Amino acid sequence: GGRPGTGLSFGAIDPVDAAVDEVTVPRGYRWEPIIRWGDPLFSDAPEFNPDRQSPGAQEQQFGYNNDYLDIIPLGRRNREALLVCNHEYTNAGIMFAETSNARQLDKQARIEMAAHGMAVVGLGRDGKGEPWKYVRGSRYNRRITATTRFELTGPAAGSKLLKTKADPDGRYPLGTFGNCAGGTTPWGTVLSGEENFNTYFVSPDTGAGAKRYGLANKPSSYGWERVDKRFDGNNKGYENEPNRFGYIVEIDPHDPESTPRKHTALGRMKHEGANVTVAPDGRVVAYMGDDERFDYLYKFVSRERMRKGNSKAAKRHNMSLLTDGDLYVAKFSGNSPESEIDGSGSLPSDGEFDGSGEWLPLVTNGRSRIDGMSVDEVLVFTRLAADKAGATKMDRCEDVQPHPGSGRVYVACTNNTDRGKTGKEGPTEVNPRTSNRDGHVVEITERRNDATSTRFGWTLLLVCGDPAKNDATYFSGYPAEQVSPISCPDNLAFDDSGNLWISTDGAPSTIGYNDGLFKVTLAGKNRGRVQQFLSVPTEAETCGPVVHEKDGMVFVAVQHPGEDGSYRDQHSYFPDYVQRSDKPEQGSFRLPRPSVIQVYRD
Ligand code: FEO
Ligand code: CA
Ligand code: CA
Ligand code: CA
Repeated sequence: GGRPGTGLSFGAIDPVDAAVDEVTVPRGYRWEPIIRWGDPLFSDAPEFNPDRQSPGAQEQQFGYNNDYLDIIPLGRRNREALLVCNHEYTNAGIMFAETSNARQLDKQARIEMAAHGMAVVGLGRDGKGEPWKYVRGSRYNRRITATTRFELTGPAAGSKLLKTKADPDGRYPLGTFGNCAGGTTPWGTVLSGEENFNTYFVSPDTGAGAKRYGLANKPSSYGWERVDKRFDGNNKGYENEPNRFGYIVEIDPHDPESTPRKHTALGRMKHEGANVTVAPDGRVVAYMGDDERFDYLYKFVSRERMRKGNSKAAKRHNMSLLTDGDLYVAKFSGNSPESEIDGSGSLPSDGEFDGSGEWLPLVTNGRSRIDGMSVDEVLVFTRLAADKAGATKMDRCEDVQPHPGSGRVYVACTNNTDRGKTGKEGPTEVNPRTSNRDGHVVEITERRNDATSTRFGWTLLLVCGDPAKNDATYFSGYPAEQVSPISCPDNLAFDDSGNLWISTDGAPSTIGYNDGLFKVTLAGKNRGRVQQFLSVPTEAETCGPVVHEKDGMVFVAVQHPGEDGSYRDQHSYFPDYVQRSDKPEQGSFRLPRPSVIQVYRD
């Protein structure tokens, strides 16, 4: 492997043209799928057959559009692991043959409900550095779908805002969907963010809350309201159903019988994900982005302290940490004159986009800090509370990840093409480009390096783009002509040496290359150096990067390959690239299959 402290050794790949339907990895590495949409999880689960899909089969198979990913090693021998991932959404147009038959459409809606949610899958292998295989029938295997029973926790659980006809207690919502990014906690559970939940509902609600979350009284694009009345707020008793989505979900992947939970204390928004760090005094802090143009960056600070050790009592205690604590939203101030932030992205005269910031309280010590809003209202209509607090409107915060070594917090702002448009907010030092097409990455240093602090400093680590084609890029002073072009940062991870890894979503439509995975050096003279590690197939997004540096392995979730195609005109054949006409009993297989892949040394 690489020299100590430098991370995996590899030569950066060249960017790959957006039409190419291949996975590209560096010389000396190979890739293969671990698990694909439709792969059977249980001994008695049906084999994937795209021509004979059913809701019952899909519930027992790996779901669609894998996004967040972690590979959690089990035991000391490094031969067993858990794969945990989100299944964010579905692409009906490429999953199913076109039909106008109402019964067929309803069946497809039920299949899609079963293809959403999350998966836990046992992995095994022969030894360190060897590729993993998923274990069909592993005792850990689990699917969570749009109909799995959840429990709400925290101050708003049981609130009248969360009650429905089917759940008069307001505590037991069914299902999770739109799950985008996430994080594994120090106590071994997995968090997942419910992001674009509004697109699944029909809602006649014209209140400020419904409007602010993008709910509308028109047929949803998924059509689930045709098969399950709770998705249509025009059905009496189901007006509050959308209020039961938009949370951070916590699951225990080690216990397939456990009830997954939604934590109201962390607020309701289009949660991208959450990542937890432990503060010097033992309290835990979760950093969270709300992924919408001009929405906000948040953090949660637990009331209780984390207990160390692996005892059952410690785990039970730690699993309560996200049920009670303080919620804040970020306000950023720049230190350069406003006249120097002209929207072009060129640096101000002090040579940096940087400044200071403040965490504005929304709920502290169990009390609302927002005039005219109760604690329940702040936690269910968190966006409205943050508007009142005067938070800073950001360029779509995606993953937010605290560095395990330095404690600095990295925020991927993926893009915001509306910045500076008529009637919209213009450039500020922390979001310095009008029509921000390529995105940027903010680096936050909490005061005294204490995650519970309410003050921080910040600087932009990267102002993304293709330096060969657009001049307003910035790589912390690293020579722009020596970096890989990068656009639309989305998911973040760190390797064991402390380098940042960024996966992207949107590069084909901005810089014309396929999305990929990039290593960014954070420390030393190469700070700001961006090197591309891999590239995903046409129209796919690179998600959930995991870097096991000591193993020489990298994992990514390849989401929505060939997304712009149709059932009859597929644009991608990832990951098998074969037509299985030799196995007619398994269908044609001429479909792309969102998959988790592993990259390892040749
Ligand atoms: Fe699902 Fe914010 O990306
Ligand atoms: Ca400055
Ligand atoms: Ca994302
Ligand atoms: Ca995305």
